[in-house]
Amino acid sequence: MGQMSNAQHKTHTPPARIPRHVAIIMDGNGRWAKQRKRPRIFGHQAGVESVRGIVKQCAAKGIEILTLFAFSSENWRRPEEEVGLLMDLFLIALEREANRLHKNNVRLRIIGERSAFSDKLQRKITEAEQLTRDNTGLIVVVAANYGGRWDISQAAQTLAQQVAAGALELRDITPERLAAQLSLADLPEPDLFIRTGGEQRISNFLLWQLAYTELYFTEVLWPDFDETEFEQALNSFAGRQRRFGRTGDQVEQEACSNNAS
Ligand code: IPE
Ligand code: IPE
Ligand code: MG
Repeated sequence: MGQMSNAQHKTHTPPARIPRHVAIIMDGNGRWAKQRKRPRIFGHQAGVESVRGIVKQCAAKGIEILTLFAFSSENWRRPEEEVGLLMDLFLIALEREANRLHKNNVRLRIIGERSAFSDKLQRKITEAEQLTRDNTGLIVVVAANYGGRWDISQAAQTLAQQVAAGALELRDITPERLAAQLSLADLPEPDLFIRTGGEQRISNFLLWQLAYTELYFTEVLWPDFDETEFEQALNSFAGRQRRFGRTGDQVEQEACSNNAS
């Protein structure tokens, strides 16, 4: 009986689809704090705890890459005090978490224009990246002073430089060559995008890389985004059909022939 139902399970239920790469806009920290009549930084601190939980869960599920939007190129527009406290928190989190991440075989990587950060923060970033560079587990990418438009324009600059130097022809500027100069060029594009906090926008996150990513929005504020909430997002992803421009029938046929072989 047990064997029978096992066999049935195999033929009728496709394997649960786990995204290789999850990208998250961790929004709602300020509102979470406000609800509790606490300063905004209290919400950002609580947000770090959520990060810890999600990193753990991603590693346990065999997700390969987790990209987190921590500070956008537009977040400098916030009150000076909040920006300063966020920078302090980034430094403290790096100091506290780097060793733990390393022990858990996580590779840490920071994307964005880091020259805007203090020397000390830049040094900590480099140290944490160096420490974890040979790890083979989950890759955690933190987008800090990152903007999708910045990413695309710096890629365009690199290609323009090559054209000016005579190393590249104008007609060789293709989507593939541009993509190869972007921050995450060596990694697969995100399969699942999550934004917490209720807003349904991209806010200059990975503009190019999200072209065919499945989008998931939730009202839940980032400090409340726990294991169950993440599970819900993963379930939503697992139930979707990704067509990449083709028809649903084509995608189903392909899945059948893949299963048969
Ligand atoms: C996201 O939370 C964290 C950062 C942008 C650094 P917010 O600080 O944007 O929280 P809300 O949107 O004001 O609630
Ligand atoms: C996006 O959140 C950036 C991060 C979460 C780091 P924001 O709170 O800055 O986005 P907007 O301003 O509401 O679009
Ligand atoms: Mg916000």
